Amino acid sequence: MSNIALPFKRYTITSALPYANGPLHIGHLAGAYIPADVYVRFLRLNAMDVVYVCGSDEHGAAITIKAKKEGTTPQAIIDKYHAQIKDSFEEFGISFDIYHRTSERIHHELSQEFFRNLYEKGEFIEQVTAQYYDEEYHQFLADRYITGTCPNCQNEGAYGDQCEKCGTSLSPTDLINPVSTLSGKPPVLRETKHWYLPLDKYQPWLEKWLLEGKKAVLKPNVYGQCRSWLKSGLQPRSMTRDLDWGVDVPLEGAEGKKLYVWLDAPIGYVSATKQWALDTGNDWEKYWKKQADPADDACLIHFIGKDNIVFHCITFPSILHAHGEYILPENVPANEFLNLEGDKLSTSRNHAVWLHEYLTEFPGKQDELRYVLTSILPETSDSEFTWKDFQARINNELVAIFGNFINRVLVLSHKYFDGKVMPATSLTDTDRFIFSELERYPKHIAGSITQFRFREALAQFMNVARLGNKYLADAEPWKLIKTDEDRVQTILNVSLQIAANLAVLAQPFLPRTADKMFEMLRFDGRDWKNAGGNALLSAGHQLGAVQLLFEKITDEQVDAQLAKLSIAKERNANAATALAETKDNIGFDDFVKMDIRAGKILAAEKVAKTKKLLKLTIDTGIDHRTVVSGIAEFFAPEEIVGKQVAILVNLEPREIKGILSQGMILMAEDTDGRLDFVAPQTDIRAGSVIR
Ligand code: 2FM
Ligand code: ZN
Repeated sequence: MSNIALPFKRYTITSALPYANGPLHIGHLAGAYIPADVYVRFLRLNAMDVVYVCGSDEHGAAITIKAKKEGTTPQAIIDKYHAQIKDSFEEFGISFDIYHRTSERIHHELSQEFFRNLYEKGEFIEQVTAQYYDEEYHQFLADRYITGTCPNCQNEGAYGDQCEKCGTSLSPTDLINPVSTLSGKPPVLRETKHWYLPLDKYQPWLEKWLLEGKKAVLKPNVYGQCRSWLKSGLQPRSMTRDLDWGVDVPLEGAEGKKLYVWLDAPIGYVSATKQWALDTGNDWEKYWKKQADPADDACLIHFIGKDNIVFHCITFPSILHAHGEYILPENVPANEFLNLEGDKLSTSRNHAVWLHEYLTEFPGKQDELRYVLTSILPETSDSEFTWKDFQARINNELVAIFGNFINRVLVLSHKYFDGKVMPATSLTDTDRFIFSELERYPKHIAGSITQFRFREALAQFMNVARLGNKYLADAEPWKLIKTDEDRVQTILNVSLQIAANLAVLAQPFLPRTADKMFEMLRFDGRDWKNAGGNALLSAGHQLGAVQLLFEKITDEQVDAQLAKLSIAKERNANAATALAETKDNIGFDDFVKMDIRAGKILAAEKVAKTKKLLKLTIDTGIDHRTVVSGIAEFFAPEEIVGKQVAILVNLEPREIKGILSQGMILMAEDTDGRLDFVAPQTDIRAGSVIR
């Protein structure tokens, strides 16, 4: 039993600030929050000095685009989603010391201070360049407002700052065939002044600090991305934008310009720490600034998803380096992406498991989701969440192994010994083996956690539960109780020691479950250093009441979730095939050229040797004429005789299948191709004008 030797005195842990433009889904949890939370809880259990910060990213085009979509203001958007996101994090036990917001004044001021610091050092390159401008909307276009084809992978939906398909970081002018998302038109180039961070100047430093210095610690997926960026050569990157939402550029002559969101967002980690320090009487600089003795520097770790690697490994460190007073990240354990049921998680397609919905559909089952997600974290490659797997892991592992063991030990202890821990009088080899295993596992789990191998850590934790479950099942105290009560006392003592160990070890992964176990065991030795002990509960100790830890997930619950996903899929398929492209505007003069009249179908018959065509005789009020119409797949001739229609009577006659068609019937076409008549709703005289 000892504390793990951790190399730093102090830790500053960050999780990516989510954009406050929508709710969180399981991909968020699995990317940057569960791993960080496990890590932080582990550090705290080891009595480390740690601050864990996060907050809502409330600037950038993501917010203004959402506001436009919802027909509201950016402020209303961030207020709504900040509250919702904060609540989801709390529910899932993501144990931030502070969950801040970048719209706070303290953050604006600190971001401006950073900008001014670099400006006064002469770090920025001031440049007037031509940038994309939407002439219809009279505004310069933020990177996210421009889409086009990625020059790297030919993805047609790439954004002006990044291609989400291949991960390449882009500038708007890199895009092939750029289009403004505001007007849908190609933007024009206009001159504007901006301040650029000379990443090319920092390249040699980055190569040394990152490629040489971090080779041994960065995960291969992170290291690989960094190496390929540096290999292709860094370019100066603009740190300001022409926008009306964000942090003002603190310079004269820069009115109407804002800081680039990727400059201010990571500074959000610092401003959150500053606010936390103000609230709690701490010194924020100890967590962010270089100390007189470098051995006193905090260890900074950024937990993020893979789409944020460039900003946390290259841009932000360059800013911190240029500033000079700040520590640099020790590690950036970025995760890959989580997929759902064989497809990418997607907000726009509603292909997701939303946390706020999960919370109402599976009340009280936060740890169950934490468990499943930790088991499948996309640590080294993309991974896959399926509802069947969710059910299997909960039923076969949490319920059948861990929950079953804890439940049995407690129920038997209450049944045989009134909930008292009995002495372990004489130990067998098996008992001693159990104690040696209990001593061994915490070190393994700690080793895995400190190396950011959380899946492995959880698997080891489950091995301890498995060990207990097997020990109890093999020992069969329910049979022995009739003949050898002494042995049963020992068996339950050993089992309860395993249970107490599990309570300690569960804390980083399953915080609510651990709390329940501490309650049931009436034990509160939460420190990690207690793990491995074989006498955590002493003889005579009174246990608390039994509580059920986990319940099975039913087939009905799984089916309901799958049905929900397929409804979303269906809606998408319809929407995708949906609306035809809009046409160019026409003048009123063009419109009035069309002579559309109310008419009535007098006769209808199939056109021989065709599937789609009907030959209609129409009373147009002016005459009785023939029209060939492609509606045979939807209407039988006999059912439409007598129907009112709208007919374009001055369409140039055309010959179709040898029949002269003199006009066109107006039809509405559904998104799935179904046709219906467009016609007056009441009986109206044939020949009446429709306009
Ligand atoms: O990708 C995102 O969701 C960003 N809002 C992450 C920002 S992380 C940080 F730098 F603040
Ligand atoms: Zn691409």
